[in-house]
Amino acid sequence: MIPDSFKQDLLNRVDIVDVIERYVPLKKTGANFSACCPFHSEKTPSFTVSPGKQFYHCFGCGANGNAISFLMEYQGMGYVEAVKDLAEDVGMKLPDFEPRNVQKKPDADPDLYGVVERASQYFREQLKDSPKAIEYLKGRGLSGKVAARFGIGYAPDGWQSLQSVFPNYADKALKDAGLVIDNDEGRRYDRFRDRIMFPILNQRGAVIGFGGRVIGDGEPKYLNSPETPLFEKGRELYGLSQARLAIRDAGRVIVVEGYMDVVALAQHGVEYAVATLGTATTPTHVSKLLRQTDELVFCFDGDGAGRRAAWHALEVSLPLIADQKVVRFLLLPPEDDPDSFIRAHGREAFEAMLLKAKPLSTFMLEGLKGRVDMESVEGRSRLIHEAGPLLQKIAAPAMQLQLLKQIAELSGISQDEAARLCGIRLSAPRHALPSVARPEESFARRPEVEQRSPLSGARFRDKSSLLLERKPIRKLLQCLIAKPVLAEDLPLDLFDEELPEARALQALTTFLREQSEASVAFVKECFRNTLHEDVIQDAVMELEAWRFQAEDVEAEFRSILVSFESVRVRARLDELTSRNELSPDEKSELTRLLQEQQALKNQPVSGPPVVHLQVPPVTR
Ligand code: UTP
Ligand code: MN
Repeated sequence: MIPDSFKQDLLNRVDIVDVIERYVPLKKTGANFSACCPFHSEKTPSFTVSPGKQFYHCFGCGANGNAISFLMEYQGMGYVEAVKDLAEDVGMKLPDFEPRNVQKKPDADPDLYGVVERASQYFREQLKDSPKAIEYLKGRGLSGKVAARFGIGYAPDGWQSLQSVFPNYADKALKDAGLVIDNDEGRRYDRFRDRIMFPILNQRGAVIGFGGRVIGDGEPKYLNSPETPLFEKGRELYGLSQARLAIRDAGRVIVVEGYMDVVALAQHGVEYAVATLGTATTPTHVSKLLRQTDELVFCFDGDGAGRRAAWHALEVSLPLIADQKVVRFLLLPPEDDPDSFIRAHGREAFEAMLLKAKPLSTFMLEGLKGRVDMESVEGRSRLIHEAGPLLQKIAAPAMQLQLLKQIAELSGISQDEAARLCGIRLSAPRHALPSVARPEESFARRPEVEQRSPLSGARFRDKSSLLLERKPIRKLLQCLIAKPVLAEDLPLDLFDEELPEARALQALTTFLREQSEASVAFVKECFRNTLHEDVIQDAVMELEAWRFQAEDVEAEFRSILVSFESVRVRARLDELTSRNELSPDEKSELTRLLQEQQALKNQPVSGPPVVHLQVPPVTR
C-alpha cells in the first residue's frame, strides 16, 4: 500500500490546476478556475477548481475530488497509476510497496517507452516509402488523416530493418520491448516484417506495443507484441487514447473485436470505438470503460465466435455494472463485422443499429430462454438453474431485483421462490464482487448480535469463537490469491456474511472462478475501490509475509476447510447432547454427526482452526 504520508506529501507538491489544465482548458474566475465539466455534458461552466483547497467540484453533476481522483476519473487510471503519474511530474519516487515474493512484474525500464516510440516513428516513416502498404490501406478505404490519427505504419520486409534506427541492435531493451526475437542459435531478428503496423497506446498516449497485419493473405493475420513490462493485453484497449474525447461527447463507448473495426469506424465518423487486443473482455476492460462513460455497447460479429465473445462479456460485466450504467449488446449480421458494415451502409445506418442494441437484461434473458424449452417444466426449471449464478453476480441491486422478477414470471413461480432457487438474498444488499460501490460504504459494521458458524449457520455463542473464525478466513483469502484454481473447491455458501472477511472471501471466490489465471497484482487492482479493497490488500500483505511453497497452499486450504467442518460438527453435537430429549430426526442426526466427527478426525489434518493459524513472522 502507498503510505498515507507519501500521498499527503505528493498532494502538497502537485498543483491541481496544472494537473487538470493538461486535459481541460481552465478559465480564471476570481480565486478559482472554471470550465465546462469534463464529467458530464453541459453548455455553461459549473466545474470549478480551487487552488487554495486543491480540490475540484462540479455543481452540475457533483463530481469532486483531488488531483489523484481527477486522474482516476478522467483518465481512467487506477489509484497507483495516478499516484505514480503525479509523482513523476514532481520528481518524487514512489516508496517500494509492491509485495515481494509474489509474481512481481519487473519494473518498466523507463527507456522502454522511448524504444517503442522510436520504433513506431520508424514504422510511420516507412509507410510513406511503401506504395504497396499505402495501396493496401487505401484499398481498405482509409484516408491519410485517419492513418495519421492512429499512427499507422509499415514494418518493411527485412530481417533486421530495425537496425537502421537502433544501431545497437543487440540491446536488451529491444527484446524487452517485444520488437525482436532471439532464435535458438542466438540470432536476432525483427518480430514484425512486411506488416501494416497499428501502434497500441496506453492511456497517457504513449506507445506500448503493436499489432501487425499481413498485407493480403498470410498467417498469422495479425501478429501482436508479446506481453512486456509496458504492455499487458488484458488491461489495454486499442484506440482508447484516441477515442477519449469522442466517448465523452457521445456519452458512450463501443467495444469491437478488431483493430480495423476501430479504424474503419473512425474513418466514417464513429470515433468512440475501442477494441480488445485479440483477447476476451476482462473485468479490467469493463471497469476502465465504465469509469469513463455511462453507456457501453459491445458490438461483435454475428458468427458463433462473436456470440460466445458477447456472452463472455456479459458475464464479466454483471459484477461491474451499477444501476446508473447501461451495458448493451449488438450482434451484427453473420456476414459482417463493424468495418464491412459501416463501409457498406455508412455511419447513419450503423448508429441507427447501435440505438437498437439490446440492453444487458434483454440480452441475458433472451440468451437464457434460447437455451431451454420454455414450454416444458424441465425447460423452465433449467432456466432458473442457469439464471442463478448470473443473477448472483449482479452488483446493481435494482437490476438484480428486476431480472429476478422476470425470471420468476417466465418460469411461473413467485419471486421469493425464485430468489431462493437462484441463491439470491433479497433483504440485505449483496456486493458479490468488485462493484462500483464506494469504499466508504464498505465496512459500516453490522450489529454483531448473532454470529453464525460458517458451515451450518449454527450460532456461535460467544465472540471468542468468532475471533477464531476470522483468522482462518483470512488464511483462505491468501490461499485463493496464491492459487486461484482453489476457488473451484470452496463452497460458496460456506461462510456467513457477518464478517467483512467472509464477504470478501465470497466475492473473491466468485471472481477467481472466472479468472483462474489472475495474478496477485490483478486481483489487487480489480478489487481497488470496492467494498473489499481493505481486506484484499491486507490478505496480499499477509501472503507476502507467508513464505509458502506451492504445495503448502493447497494443504493449508484443505486443512482449514476440514477445521471449519469440525467446528460446525462439534457445535451441533454440543447442542444436541445438551438437550434432555431428542426427536427421532435429531437422534439420527446425532448418529450421523458422530460418524462425521470420526471421519474428520481421520483426515490427515484436523483440529480446531487455531492450530493452523500460525503465520510466520513478518520479515520486512
Ligand atoms: P478478425 O479475424 O475478426 O480480423 O480478428 P479483423 O479485425 O476483421 O481484421 P481484418 O478486417 O481482416 O483486417 C479480430 C481481432 O482478433 C485479433 C486482432 O486483434 C484482430 O483485430 N487477431 C486476429 C489476432 O490477434 N491474430 C490473428 O491472427 C487474428
Ligand atoms: Mn474485418
